[in-house]
Amino acid sequence: MSHTIGIIGGGQLGKMLALDAKRMGYTVVTLDPDPHAPCGQVADDQIVAAYDDLAAIEQLGRRSDVVTFEFENIAIASIEHLETLQLPVTPSSRVLKITQDRLLEKSFVRECGIATTDFERIDRMDDLLRAAMTVGFPAVLKTVRGGYDGKGQWRATSLTEAKAAFAAARGATLIFERYVPFVKELSVIATRDATDRVVSYPIAENTHDAGVLATTVAPGRVARAVEKRARDAAIVIGRKLGIVGTYCVEFFVTEDEEVMVNEIAPRPHNSGHYTIDVTQCSQYEQHVRAICALPLAEPELYASAVMVNILGAGHGDYLAGVPALLGDPSVVLHVYGKKHAVARRKMGHFTLVVDGPVDDAVVARALRYRDKLTWMPLLPDPLKAPAS
Ligand SMILES: Nc1ncnc2c1ncn2[C@@H]1O[C@H](COP(=O)(O)OP(=O)(O)O)[C@@H](O)[C@H]1O
Ligand SMILES: [Mg+2]
Repeated sequence: MSHTIGIIGGGQLGKMLALDAKRMGYTVVTLDPDPHAPCGQVADDQIVAAYDDLAAIEQLGRRSDVVTFEFENIAIASIEHLETLQLPVTPSSRVLKITQDRLLEKSFVRECGIATTDFERIDRMDDLLRAAMTVGFPAVLKTVRGGYDGKGQWRATSLTEAKAAFAAARGATLIFERYVPFVKELSVIATRDATDRVVSYPIAENTHDAGVLATTVAPGRVARAVEKRARDAAIVIGRKLGIVGTYCVEFFVTEDEEVMVNEIAPRPHNSGHYTIDVTQCSQYEQHVRAICALPLAEPELYASAVMVNILGAGHGDYLAGVPALLGDPSVVLHVYGKKHAVARRKMGHFTLVVDGPVDDAVVARALRYRDKLTWMPLLPDPLKAPAS
């Protein structure tokens, strides 16, 4: 059994991972450039360094029995460095390489025999003209690397709009994707261990607002056959990737119940937060179990869940309305401890724990709670002397 877990990345996913790891008796060291990052607030120690600082990464590796990461936009060289030194790290650089690059990722999914939307690689204007013919419109253009929460994405309904997106990308390689007229977005959280065992959670149904996850309903309200297809696809993907740890596969479902993979995240995922509050073993604990060679738990759902993200508004860092929210005993609140509630930044979430199936009225209730939360300026500290 490993004793110290190193986590590259100090965001909320790292924090929730660290909380479960701490509960299970592990020591946690995190590496993040921001000394106030959420994970550092609960970890035993934090190395304050850039994700591509190889000396710092090596230090993390030497202090840890196993290193993992909580987001995928880190330098592959960092993971390769640990592998070269034979310091245990998981997921591997191979998994990171595929999931960091939208072109490699979609090609990989197709090699698994699983559907994706049509796509083309765009480096030059010629490619754009070709994709406009072969893939067609409406389309979504995305930077191949570095995007998250809808960043680095442009919708285009015509060649003129596609050219504007191409110009805005300033030479970055793009993927030109056919827009999928989905009726639902789904995700499957799963965990694979080194013995090739995979466990998957009940399907989650997601809504996004301008590319950022807004709500998750679990279990998702879809036909059983759709859920099975998505969970089976997620299991195939995990096995073919050879990932060790928790991962997420996002899907689109079309009107005629076609299930297409949108993307893969090689880590615990925002749409799996619900597993903390309504299952016996969260996506974070499964990750700890997988990377520390402990047996995975077949997930049991104790209740249904509606998870609602709380985003920053860009005006004020004090979250008002929490007492009213907590007046409902079915609400579980999670606040990440980020200092500044920058507009659209993920600051926290809450889970509404529901007995039985979730209907639209329950979702509406959760959204009403969200809409009553507001951001206000921090009140001046009365104990501090007024500035002279
Ligand atoms: N090809 C597409 N067709 C329809 N909607 C899309 C497409 N690609 C992205 N989207 C929308 O944008 C959201 C974010 O895109 P995604 O590829 O998941 O990037 P990110 O890495 O930012 O999460 C998706 O969840 C979906 O709502
Ligand atoms: Mg996504």
